[in-house]
Amino acid sequence: MEKQREKFSSRLGFILISAGCAIGLGNVWRFPYITGKYGGAAFVLIYLLFLVIMGIPIMVAEFAVGRASQTSAVLSYRKLEPKGTKWHLHGYVCVAGNYLLMMFYTTIGGWMLSYVFKMMRGEFVGLDTDGVSAVFSDMLAKPLPMIFWMVVVIVLCFLICSLGLQKGVERITKWMMSCLFLILIILCVRSLTLPGAAEGLKFYLMPDFKKMAENGIGEAIFAAMGQSFFTLSIGIGAMSIFGSYIDKNRTLTGETLSICALDTTVALLSGLIIFPACFSFGVDPGEGPGLVFVTLPNIFNQMAGGRIFGTLFFIFMFFAAISTVIAVFENIISFSIDLFGVSRKKAVAVNLVLMILLSLPCVLGFNVWSGFQPLGEGTTIQDLEDFIVSNNLLPLGSLVFLLFCTSKKGWGWKNFIAEADAGKGIKFPKWARVYVTYILPVIVLFIFVMGYYQKFFAA
Ligand code: ALA
Repeated sequence: MEKQREKFSSRLGFILISAGCAIGLGNVWRFPYITGKYGGAAFVLIYLLFLVIMGIPIMVAEFAVGRASQTSAVLSYRKLEPKGTKWHLHGYVCVAGNYLLMMFYTTIGGWMLSYVFKMMRGEFVGLDTDGVSAVFSDMLAKPLPMIFWMVVVIVLCFLICSLGLQKGVERITKWMMSCLFLILIILCVRSLTLPGAAEGLKFYLMPDFKKMAENGIGEAIFAAMGQSFFTLSIGIGAMSIFGSYIDKNRTLTGETLSICALDTTVALLSGLIIFPACFSFGVDPGEGPGLVFVTLPNIFNQMAGGRIFGTLFFIFMFFAAISTVIAVFENIISFSIDLFGVSRKKAVAVNLVLMILLSLPCVLGFNVWSGFQPLGEGTTIQDLEDFIVSNNLLPLGSLVFLLFCTSKKGWGWKNFIAEADAGKGIKFPKWARVYVTYILPVIVLFIFVMGYYQKFFAA
């Protein structure tokens, strides 16, 4: 007889863990710097549009596959696919995608944690801009401390997962997400009450398409689409697993809307912290990926109570990062349990060692192996891993989920809609069938092709 699968203890648990999987570095680190780069509010509008027209339907599709099959990606496809078809091969790609995402995410999670302690100890106090930059480059230059923080993140997150779905993942994530929202509000109030904050708000909230055109509207649209996939973690089955942990009391569209609303709120509020602060202290918000690690410590240095707010800020970043790590580790553990029939403890032990080994190339890519620049001058192994996940596995995987749910050769529309609409709540709109079957896949393919064009052919 099949063993009873452990479920979330509450609906709130499901929503907060799925939101925790979505809310991560994509919201608090990637979103603000991309928004800064592409001119603020006009970019935000396009990003929101893509969340609605692409992110929501694809997330519903993933949850439907997970809930109908009650298992993780590879076996989901095996259970639902018509006999003799090969959809399950994508399940293995999903497994690889989850590992790859973590291979660089754990390192950045480690940076966040080390910055919590640096801020707490007052390491930035009295440093000028160059001094603050030097702290960041010093960190990247030394593999051992980076490995240390990366290992701390991995051990901590696997430890939480080893306690079980309800006692570990659900309990800790609920607590962490509540703290995250509280810190978010405190930091927003602090930032909005800084002198000169209004300029930052204007940049962030008043769309100026002319300004966006200066950087190229095409590029901004592409970046907005990519960001909407990344932020929702869709396309690698990371979300579908949480569908397998719930019952059929609620419609999946309704649940997806709540999760996307939480994810979007955190991204938008992160912007509300960062942009007013940048403008208040005369810092360029288009600084790029270093915005959080180089620019913000400078801001905290000049701010009254900066050490406390800086520490809170990096705790907030750290919680966002590890809520995703815990959720994706839960996926990885679940794959191992479902595919190899091992116990949770054994899955944790083996994956802990494997994950540390797999995360090493990212760390070493910044120092010992920095001569290897896989995507052109100045790029690192982290860039390569991010590129494989964000520009390939997420869009193509989303495309496969969509085709699986809408095509007669896959699971098919009838099965999908019955699953998505089971329970109380908002139903998936029937008129959207033509859109998700024919139009959305074309948009997704477009992102994929554009991704390659941008990376390798655009000047
Ligand atoms: N959705 C995760 C994030 O936004 C991957 O960081």
